[in-house]
Amino acid sequence: MSYTQDNHNDINHREEFDNTSLDHPNNLDKEKKRDDMAGIHEIRPGSNGLAGLVKNPYVFCTAIFASIGGILFGYDQGVISGVQEMQDFQEKFPMSSTQTGFMVSILELGAWAGSWIIGYFADRIGRKHSIVLSTLVFLLGSAIQGGAQNIGMLLGGRFVTGMSVGALSLLVPLYQSEIAPPEIRGSLISLQQLAVTFGILISFWIDYGLTNIGGEASWRIPLCLQLAFAVILGIGIFFFPFSPRWLMGQGRDDEALLVISKLRRESPDHTLVIQEWREIKATVEFDRHIERQNYPQYVDTGKKGEIMVGLMGYRDLFRKGIFNRLVIGSLIMFFQQFTGMNALIYYAPKIFQSVGLTGSSISLLATGVVGIINFVMTFPAVIYLDVLGRKSALMVASVIMAICMVVVAIITALFQDDWENHTAEGWVSVAFIYIFIACFATAWGPIGWVLCAEIFPLRCRAKAMSVTTSANWMCNFIIGLIVPVMLENITYGTYIFFACFLVLSFFFVWLFVPETKGRSLEEMDEIFGGHAAIHDAAIMNQVQNRINQNETGDKTSAV
Ligand code: BGC
Repeated sequence: MSYTQDNHNDINHREEFDNTSLDHPNNLDKEKKRDDMAGIHEIRPGSNGLAGLVKNPYVFCTAIFASIGGILFGYDQGVISGVQEMQDFQEKFPMSSTQTGFMVSILELGAWAGSWIIGYFADRIGRKHSIVLSTLVFLLGSAIQGGAQNIGMLLGGRFVTGMSVGALSLLVPLYQSEIAPPEIRGSLISLQQLAVTFGILISFWIDYGLTNIGGEASWRIPLCLQLAFAVILGIGIFFFPFSPRWLMGQGRDDEALLVISKLRRESPDHTLVIQEWREIKATVEFDRHIERQNYPQYVDTGKKGEIMVGLMGYRDLFRKGIFNRLVIGSLIMFFQQFTGMNALIYYAPKIFQSVGLTGSSISLLATGVVGIINFVMTFPAVIYLDVLGRKSALMVASVIMAICMVVVAIITALFQDDWENHTAEGWVSVAFIYIFIACFATAWGPIGWVLCAEIFPLRCRAKAMSVTTSANWMCNFIIGLIVPVMLENITYGTYIFFACFLVLSFFFVWLFVPETKGRSLEEMDEIFGGHAAIHDAAIMNQVQNRINQNETGDKTSAV
């Protein structure tokens, strides 16, 4: 097995990539470049979607298991909506609307911080161990929340839990995408969104189920139940493989080969396994090449140099052809949050009460239905996203969602002082809120994440995504903070506020967001400008050729 290590060292110390050809990216044959970027597609039986998932049962199960991280994300976001309505909770922690907003949204602030910090650990100790670390932080935060004796503990607990949730929101898709064969990577990103909506769903129904038991248990139990998911994830992940991509980055090439063989359920000398091993190796070498090319002064200069290379990578995001994608990605996340969806996730019972559903159990029941619609309507996105396209789905959703918000605003404005005599109108509002949720679940929910994962070139994708993810959490935090204050002070104006952003989002998508369905990375360059992806393809081509040459002759005997 020593051949992998030898080649690793060999390739590592060669720097004679031919950069001259990169000055003329347009001279490169487009189809070939596409194949180079696609890597093993040509020889892999290309099932995608559901068929692809079924064909890869071990990867599928590993990805499903890892998506418990997404369940924690959704559960923690959703559980607070019912908890804050529990009588005992309100008596123990009396809060103004401003304080409620802060108590709800401090989780998102923690998530924002966590999504930044975890990037370092993900590279240093690996994806798997970072997931374990995040679950430990989660256990600590949830235990403090569940056992809170005062508001300070509640806030502290939610912030700590949030750090873990933010970290997992980055780690889980990263791990999933690194164990997945390319043809099912897209489905796995959607799997994470499904897990989030599933987490929200169960949290709503647990809240509903416990609302009548009264006393401290009614809110401590839902806050503590999430501990169980974290324990399962933290312990169970040990039984799953390391990310082969991370192993390779650590120079543990032989282990990476064994992991790929296990994931693909083929022997280590199977053509597909070796080909994929080469592709991952090429990606790792590609990154090293870019670093050496751009920051020769910092590469291989020890710890400090490593940190500098990491930091300088962010500077790349300001380059022509990249910065505009970063702005578009961040704005997509901004509009995803300013649709107002999380106003419902965090404050659904309050909102249902504000449209006339009196009594906490009826409003919690209506909230439970929100969870079901949100979960069920995410499935069409998983299946049809690549058929219908992102742009049209976002635009149609924005229009319908804006209409829903306007209808709810009008009904609330007309009848908010006399719901008793206008129950039917109250239910019409509820129906429009459900339509709103369904549209979010099929469009803005999943597409926000999918778009941000596909528009950036390879060389800066991880860093760019950390910026768009943190933009998402920051906007999420703002929504959690302002909505209770708005509901109290401007009542139906809250819905008008979100309707305005939905109208803006329609024009934003129409004018600035290109359709990315089925587009290759090179085509993204044509769309957004710049040559980053075309350059990347050319470099990748050279790296792959070099790896292939280095292995010709000895690979089969070595394995
Ligand atoms: C959003 C979350 C939201 C969830 C609702 C996700 O895409 O990022 O903020 O709570 O969808 O399903």
